[in-house]
Order: sequence, then C-alpha cells, then structure tokens
Amino acid sequence: MKVAVISDIHSNIEALKAVLDAIDQEDISLIINLGDLVGYNASPVECVDLVQGRQIISIQGNHDRAATEMKHAEGFNILAYQAVKWSANKLAPIHKRFLKKLEHTRVIWDRYLVFHGAPGNPDAYLFYLFQAKKAFNYMRKRTVGVRIGFFGHTHKRAVWQRDVRGKVSSLKIPEENILLDPEQMYLINPGSVGQPREHNWKASYLVFSNEPETIQFKSVSYDLHSAQAKIRNAKLPEYLAERLETGV
Ligand SMILES: [Fe+2]
Repeated sequence: MKVAVISDIHSNIEALKAVLDAIDQEDISLIINLGDLVGYNASPVECVDLVQGRQIISIQGNHDRAATEMKHAEGFNILAYQAVKWSANKLAPIHKRFLKKLEHTRVIWDRYLVFHGAPGNPDAYLFYLFQAKKAFNYMRKRTVGVRIGFFGHTHKRAVWQRDVRGKVSSLKIPEENILLDPEQMYLINPGSVGQPREHNWKASYLVFSNEPETIQFKSVSYDLHSAQAKIRNAKLPEYLAERLETGV
C-alpha cells in the first residue's frame, strides 16, 4: 500500500493541485496532510475546500489554529501574522470549524505518529538533534510500538533515524527510494507543498510504501506566477510572493 504525505500547503492552491495531480498518477491509497493548510499565500478557501472534498486525513498546524483564533498568532512574525489575519477574514465559519476540529498529533492505524511541529506541540520545531531525540523519546513512552513519525512545520525535508542502541542521526535526502530498517525508528518530514524553504521553488511531498517500508521524496512544478499574482492582488506583503520563487 502506498501513502502520500503532504504538509505546509499554506493556501497555495496551484501547488496543491499540481501535487494532487502527480499523486493521482500513482496507485496511492491514502493522503495524509501534516498541517498548515492556510496562511502565507492567497487561496485559503480553495485549499480547505479541496482537502475536505478529497477526504485527505489532516492534522492541525499552528497557522490553521491561528486562523480559527487569532490569539494563537501572537508569537508569529509580522508577515505570518498579516497573512493569517487575512486568511481568517476570508474563511467562512464552516472552514474554521473544519480547521478547529483537527488534532495536532495523532496515531494512524496504531502504526504511524503524525504531528505538525513536535509531538504534542504544533508550535515547536523538530530541527536539531536534541529535538529529534525528544520526539523519539515521546514515541517510546507515549506511543509504544510506533516506529515511524511524520511531521512538518520546518518546510524542509528531513529523515531522522534512531538505531537499536539509541543513536539518533539525520540522513542525507537521496534521489532514489530509502529502504527503512524494521529495527529502527524514523521521523520523516516531506517538505512543504506551498512554501518550500530549500532554495527550490518546486512543491515537495513524499510517497511512503509499507511492503517493504520505503520512502521517496518527490517534487513537482506548478503555476508559480499565478500563485504570486494572487498574493499581489490580495495586497498581501510582496515578500510572500518573492519568497515562493526563491524557495526561502
Ligand atoms: Fe508551515
């Protein structure tokens, strides 16, 4: 069975459609969205409608939570704050109810932990070794038996592994499939669909297969100029349009 994992769509409908088109070319049984459906870009309503309509399993990101209650945006930088406030004004109550009900951490099929930032905390980042160790410890104590976690929030692809002796390390992202070792634990970030930050503008996602367990990182081109034009027409900060192109 193949599962597509997507994250940090951030109201970029052009990127989301391109990723879903690519996913639809493969034999994918399930799509999991790791949160931040809204924020930054200019199509929040379209993105929520599409994800809801496709029955994509979603968890809540910090921008999703902020769009439903602005008090959660207090720690945001000014650009993120302006964009999420704009999104909150565009979303109808039905969209906000959908975003509000999402959990920020959950276990799927008793096997896979999915969360946005860090387990139990959508605002915290999993970027450094000590944060990866903390997340593995959470899994070992709170979700016993779960070896694989998927997360987003950093907008950067990542694979962390923990071997049987407890050594945690990060893997280089290869072009080809990564075969997962059934003895080891993993924390995997698919990168961002709608605002990648690896100096590459293409929309990033991941395909996970379970027999045997493999992952493959993928990226697709999308209509960048249309996404940028919408940001400018909405009078959102110009930098939000520019950064899509430079991938920062
Ligand atoms: Fe995000």
